[in-house]
Amino acid sequence: MPYGVPVLEDLPSVEGRSVLVRCDFNVPLRDGEIADDHRIRAALPTLEWLTSRGAEVTAVTHLGRPKGAPDPAFDVAPVRARLAELAPGVTLGENLRFSPGETANDPDFVDELVAGHDLYVNDAFGASHRAHASIVGPPSRLPSAAGRLLAQEVSVLLDLRRQPRRPFVAITGGAKVSDKLGVIRALLNIADEILIGGGMCFTFFAAMGHSVGSSLLEPDRVDDCRALLDEFGDRLVLPTDVVALGPGGRLGDPSAGGEVRNTGRSLPEGWMGLDIGPGAAAEFGDRIAEASTVLWNGPMGVFEDPRFEAGTRSVAQSVADCRGFTVIGGGDSAAAIAQFGLDDRVDHISTGGGASLELIEQGDLPGLEALRRAPNAATDDDDDETE
Ligand code: 3PG
Repeated sequence: MPYGVPVLEDLPSVEGRSVLVRCDFNVPLRDGEIADDHRIRAALPTLEWLTSRGAEVTAVTHLGRPKGAPDPAFDVAPVRARLAELAPGVTLGENLRFSPGETANDPDFVDELVAGHDLYVNDAFGASHRAHASIVGPPSRLPSAAGRLLAQEVSVLLDLRRQPRRPFVAITGGAKVSDKLGVIRALLNIADEILIGGGMCFTFFAAMGHSVGSSLLEPDRVDDCRALLDEFGDRLVLPTDVVALGPGGRLGDPSAGGEVRNTGRSLPEGWMGLDIGPGAAAEFGDRIAEASTVLWNGPMGVFEDPRFEAGTRSVAQSVADCRGFTVIGGGDSAAAIAQFGLDDRVDHISTGGGASLELIEQGDLPGLEALRRAPNAATDDDDDETE
């Protein structure tokens, strides 16, 4: 039982038993079609393990964020159709979030979920940071286990947290520094250096006394960034330059005009920084090349706009070329590495954005805690691997 969490082999015989499997099939949809079925394919090892042993499998998932009532925009029908192709014989229940009991973790809804099932498997890594009914409820009622995907994600990310090969370089990006301060603090305990890009670097720039023009800035986080720089400045690496869009330009619309240029760290009035510059990309690349472990979470700029994709593309290439162990923390960086066709050159791409950040930050997730309390889980006395 790695990390005290029961795995599939810890379940009683599954033959002829009805197994409820919580998956994270929260896939992107475009015009009613699945734009990326990676999360469905990632659950197949678990579904196949169960069906090949004669289990009757019912999968359940949430899709999007409906407000606790049926909403046709979040119908799981496209997921059901794809699942029928990939895992014939596996049934898919209705969108869990059509019931208000799911996010409220209502015990009556848990009873409804487990009714008629003998066993429970959680393979929804991407949703295991949510203390929702389908994640934390069933292990209190049924013998339970982590599926293959959940077990693999946990083992990669917790090993990274506990015993990374050094040097360990973490790269963080994304828009808001407020979302990442917790994980930056946690990473400062385990990584040798943290490279910071994306919109979040401007709050650090402001803390260093630079002008940020019209760039994304969280004024109420400037003091936090200054405190981090004062204490850990030698291990926090900020971009030396940024690519910015001048007054009159519109993001995502090159035809609107507006000058695009490298501004260094100080941006003039009206200029908006939207990518790390070539100098920063080269420096980040050198540091990534030296790393034995790399964790990347969050793009370096607004890579969806081709004028501001170069920094993210360059970091993606550096991660792909790195000879060390490389991990992408899900979310937008996973989308970016796939967009650049480099996804098969990374050791592990997490299926959970928020979940991977929370696991790295806290060292645990509500879904894992619940599995550790399942009736078939090891007790503290007979399992010395539990934290
Ligand atoms: C995700 O897409 O990150 C997971 O499916 C969790 O979705 P949520 O943020 O809506 O809970």
